[in-house]
Amino acid sequence: MEKKPMYVAFSTQKGGAGKTTLTVLVASYLHYVKGYNVAVVDCDYPQYSVVDMRKRDRELVMDDEYYSYLFYEQATRLDKKIYPVEQGMPENAIEVAQGLSKNEDFDFIFFDLPGTINNEGVVKTLSQMDYIFSPISADYMVLRSTLRFADVLNEKLITTGIANIKGLYLLWNLVDGREKSELYEVYEKVIEDLHLTALKTFLPDSKRFRKELSVSHKAVFRSTLFPVDKALIKGSNLDLLVAEILELLK
Ligand SMILES: Nc1ncnc2c1ncn2[C@@H]1O[C@H](COP(=O)(O)OP(=O)(O)O)[C@@H](O)[C@H]1O
Ligand SMILES: [Mg+2]
Repeated sequence: MEKKPMYVAFSTQKGGAGKTTLTVLVASYLHYVKGYNVAVVDCDYPQYSVVDMRKRDRELVMDDEYYSYLFYEQATRLDKKIYPVEQGMPENAIEVAQGLSKNEDFDFIFFDLPGTINNEGVVKTLSQMDYIFSPISADYMVLRSTLRFADVLNEKLITTGIANIKGLYLLWNLVDGREKSELYEVYEKVIEDLHLTALKTFLPDSKRFRKELSVSHKAVFRSTLFPVDKALIKGSNLDLLVAEILELLK
């Protein structure tokens, strides 16, 4: 019997919160470093940012000698295929995932969804997730909309038991290292009052999160073909985030 993959989404109402970035960083780390079998279903129509990133990544690996070398070295070392990135619509995302699972066993399938909950397809697909991580940042507007999003999910789907969701966690992203922690303490209190939970790991606001493969051959950070470069892991907290997520999903 085939095993059922874990369905995971980094999802929130707010655009620019880090959904796509986190999806790719965590998927690549699990697949290329931790040895899991991963797939991504991109249903963030019409941007399709992950599909787009895979296209750019492929072109660079084909056209650029340095990345082409890195790619073949990695493929030989890991003896493993790259993970599939499939395009879908929010309403048929689960069918796309099931289609992928027909040919191969996956440990994790990530879903990149549009940043809205006022869409039936999005809600339907979210209700089929095993785990949802909602990126938040200490910005009043972001926080307000994310907390509302998480509250609706919690009320409508989780506490009523009509969804498969086993856990919904908030995730601090874009954290300014210079900011006073008091600010976060205040927000943590609000989160607690709403009976929501935030992950212990937070991700700093750091330029490296915007780095992709480039002809300047700087160390790789965000890519669908490579994991984060070892030199950039430290201080990104990505390794800690993946460890915390794996511990939760066990
Ligand atoms: N921790 C971070 N530090 C700095 N920039 C970040 C961080 N997380 C995301 N970003 C940047 O913020 C922008 C929006 O991120 P993205 O993942 O596209 O958001 P979403 O998919 O939620 O719209 C991108 O330019 C991305 O590189
Ligand atoms: Mg996105």
